[in-house]
Amino acid sequence: MRDHIPAPAFHIGTVPIWGDLILAPMTGYGDLPFRVICREMGSAMSYVPCILDEAVIYGSKLTAGLTAFSPLERPIAMQLLSKEENTLVEASRRIMALEPDLIDLNLGCPARHVSWRGRGAALLREPARIGTLASQLVRAVPVPVTAKMRLGWDDETRNYREVAHILEDSGVAAIAVHGRTKAQGFGGQADWRAIAEVKRKVRVPVLANGDVRTVEDIAAIREATGCDGVLIGRAAIGNPWNFQRRDVGSVPYLERLDLMRRHLAAMTAHYGEHIGLVLFRKHAVRYLHELEGAKALRHRLVTIETPAELLRLLESWPLSRRLPGTAG
Ligand SMILES: Cc1cc2nc3c(=O)[nH]c(=O)nc-3n(C[C@H](O)[C@H](O)[C@H](O)COP(=O)(O)O)c2cc1C
Repeated sequence: MRDHIPAPAFHIGTVPIWGDLILAPMTGYGDLPFRVICREMGSAMSYVPCILDEAVIYGSKLTAGLTAFSPLERPIAMQLLSKEENTLVEASRRIMALEPDLIDLNLGCPARHVSWRGRGAALLREPARIGTLASQLVRAVPVPVTAKMRLGWDDETRNYREVAHILEDSGVAAIAVHGRTKAQGFGGQADWRAIAEVKRKVRVPVLANGDVRTVEDIAAIREATGCDGVLIGRAAIGNPWNFQRRDVGSVPYLERLDLMRRHLAAMTAHYGEHIGLVLFRKHAVRYLHELEGAKALRHRLVTIETPAELLRLLESWPLSRRLPGTAG
């Protein structure tokens, strides 16, 4: 009897994607160690979070650190922030030396230092510029180009239909849609119906994004939008079990502890002991945050000074919670 060979969930251009759940790009969280963990848990590809085109061109040491990825993460997309086709094309050609599988154009970043300078979500106010940037990028690189957009600048200018068409006509191979406007930031509710409209209107794969927190939400957003894949952002922090379609509440403490040990070890190996620990502390808070007694532990977690101390605290914590007067 022949073995069953699974099919990819979908393709982005020529790149097969072997699953429908993907860690969303997140500056400050989506670094190499966390992305590898999410990939091992089932995230189907990785995004290197946004990098400024000029930072790539004038290549700082910091940029080199940010673009580091592991072969285990493939397919890997590198996301660029730009507002000008010459710098975008130059940066994308340089980025190709790192051999990413995909290049992604950021059309959603709401941060002031980005959007007030005409990049990220600010481009949604200039759809023609999006067309120029996307088509030049598609021509410049030999890999498929994707884009990640919001629904528009604000409630009065929700131009997502127009932007999606422009992206498709420019040759973009997949579109990720975060169902909010720039003005909404990360508040309010993501509009999954608008994502469904984009999915109905374009032929390229659509990745739906916004407010997916639970296994139930994954099924709901798939059903509501008909999307090809789902990007999970904030809810993956402290909960990569989402990628195994398991709710964090069902994960026993010892399993969390095992993953935290691996995550901390990966962070200290990647950044060195001190920086790795400091950057891991905010993840540790999130791995525990819905557990009883975690609030009281928070201050100790974020001020702890060595990896060994942190591990001792995490290893003894569930026991100490059972003793009256020693909680947290
Ligand atoms: C801390 C943080 C950093 C982010 N960085 C990026 C980024 O670099 N590029 C990007 O396209 N989106 C970025 N996002 C947006 C997320 O990819 C995602 O669109 C958003 O969080 C909504 O999805 P969620 O509800 O699953 O979190 C960031 C979000 C957060 C919270």
